[in-house]
Amino acid sequence: MKHVRSIDELGVDGIVRVLKVAEHMAEVNRRPVPKVPALVGKTVVSLFFEDSTRTRISFETAARRLSADTMTFSVSTSSVNKGESLRDTVETVSAMGVAAFVVRHKSSGVPWQMENWTDASIVNAGDGWHQHPTQALLDCHSITGAFGIEPAPQCLRGLAITIVGDVRHSRVARSDIEAFTALGATVRLVGPRTLMPPDASPWGVEITDDLDSVIGDSDVLYMLRMQRERMNEALVPHLGEYSTRFGLDAVRAARMKDGAVVMHPGPMNRGVEMMIDPSELPRSLVTNQVASGVSVRMAVLFDVLGGQEVAS
Ligand code: NCD
Repeated sequence: MKHVRSIDELGVDGIVRVLKVAEHMAEVNRRPVPKVPALVGKTVVSLFFEDSTRTRISFETAARRLSADTMTFSVSTSSVNKGESLRDTVETVSAMGVAAFVVRHKSSGVPWQMENWTDASIVNAGDGWHQHPTQALLDCHSITGAFGIEPAPQCLRGLAITIVGDVRHSRVARSDIEAFTALGATVRLVGPRTLMPPDASPWGVEITDDLDSVIGDSDVLYMLRMQRERMNEALVPHLGEYSTRFGLDAVRAARMKDGAVVMHPGPMNRGVEMMIDPSELPRSLVTNQVASGVSVRMAVLFDVLGGQEVAS
């Protein structure tokens, strides 16, 4: 693949390929010196027009573990005019000899627009409400790891995954729903109607506003962050009420089925969607997700930059 911009563009074969390579990368990451020379001489630039802690650091760690050179370009959203200035930035940085851009932007579609201004590979690290493909890939990697599943088409068949919360504003949810269903999982969305997309029918998922009715038969409970920065209308009457109906607390956690796991993409709103510390849950994958992030992003960079052998 030249670019990784959406789950749809990657397709089932692409998802499975990345997940398999990510397993090799996880092995590299367990070594005393977690570094391979696969991308020596290639430069990876992170272009973040929106705030991020874990995603940017995770990509940069991934690039360095593959021995790529890294450059960081952090821009505060307020100082950037979209259109010309984004184009100027991309063309300027590109002229320095860049192999791949990792881009996060508040506008949906920016990773596609950039293709007109650079020959470098483009990896989408989140575009508006639209897509966050590497988050979905790392989530799949955490799930296959936790359940001892070999990556393959339909490998999540039989698993019931419940995604709870602010689906409407969530690029993570959009990418996750596509990736989980592509691999055969049964996906259910739970939240207030106002936080559901107006039309979820193309996904073929079930929607409910009653968390308690589904918590007991979910294998994966995926808690989303309330995206307060993206809400410009009052979509929930009161955050306290939201927490009562949709937050994960000790009482709800106790109703989960044996072996079920809890996930969250971070950053977490403690006291809003997470009323319990993940460390108090029987099976939380929250830190596994962060570790998977590095392995999966190594696999993605390796895929788009066509590096040499990983194994050595
Ligand atoms: C997500 C994002 O920025 O889309 N965070 C992340 O990448 N870890 C999820 C979120 O902000 O809720």
